[in-house]
Amino acid sequence: MRGLQEKVIIVAGGATGIGAAVAERLAEEGAEVVIGDVNITRAEQTAATLRDLGGEVTALEFDITNEESVRDLVETVITRHGRLDGLHANAADLSAATFGADDNAVNVPIAVWDRTLDVALKGHLYLVRHAVPKMIAGGGGAIVHTSSTAAFMGEPLHVAYGVAKSGVTALMRHTSARWGKEGIRSNAVAPGLTRTEVVLAEAAERPEWHEQVRDSIHATRLGLPSDIASAVSFLLSDDASWITGQVYSIDGGQLLR
Ligand SMILES: NC(=O)c1ccc[n+]([C@@H]2O[C@H](COP(=O)([O-])OP(=O)(O)OC[C@H]3O[C@@H](n4cnc5c(N)ncnc54)[C@H](O)[C@@H]3O)[C@@H](O)[C@H]2O)c1
Repeated sequence: MRGLQEKVIIVAGGATGIGAAVAERLAEEGAEVVIGDVNITRAEQTAATLRDLGGEVTALEFDITNEESVRDLVETVITRHGRLDGLHANAADLSAATFGADDNAVNVPIAVWDRTLDVALKGHLYLVRHAVPKMIAGGGGAIVHTSSTAAFMGEPLHVAYGVAKSGVTALMRHTSARWGKEGIRSNAVAPGLTRTEVVLAEAAERPEWHEQVRDSIHATRLGLPSDIASAVSFLLSDDASWITGQVYSIDGGQLLR
């Protein structure tokens, strides 16, 4: 991929799963990667593994629900690397206490609604508002948010998650429209079911679930974190320099939008 070499890119929510795979792919492509995550233990482990493979990868602790923490993450990257070229806004709270308790609109506990949107939507706003001015100061940059098929499916459960992921696509299009002429590109990926740690743990309790989803898509297999990582890396690269304001479904043909 062209134009990732030596680019400074934050993967916000990059300790595990899809974000960790994005960090790996970006490092392979020669980017300087900063993994930001609330789970600093796993973020440090991921960064150390990728450094052992030859990547230039560091980890910083931050909490996406706290605006000062988001600002500090971006400021620290500027202080250490001198610029910011890319951002993968990936964090979401997929814990049993939040995603697992995200019910229908009648039953969802308001605390679960608030927590879901704080991490997966308001947190993405904090990242955009602190990253965009730094990117413009450096001549422009690219942002990719992680949305989900849940933004488009109309699921009977997980109302807060679906609303947050729909909101992320609107935020992404706003950024594209408002700052496109100043060199900011903004896009989103909408993964289908992807075999990350958190998903595999849930599948262990419902073994039939993965087979049902696999039967409902056009591909022969479910998604891997590396499938999402290649799309995110492409959208952050110069090969995607005329792509902005788009949502890419990376879902094995689950949704034909
Ligand atoms: N795995 C799937 O099937 C799937 C499908 C569609 C969309 N997605 C989306 O992909 C993204 C990654 O999901 P994943 O499956 O890799 O799960 P994951 O839990 O491994 O990744 C989420 C990351 O966000 C971090 N995070 C959570 N709260 C945070 C906070 N307050 N501050 C900073 N970081 C925080 C977590 O520590 C973790 O590293 C999420 O946005 C998820 O909604 C996943």
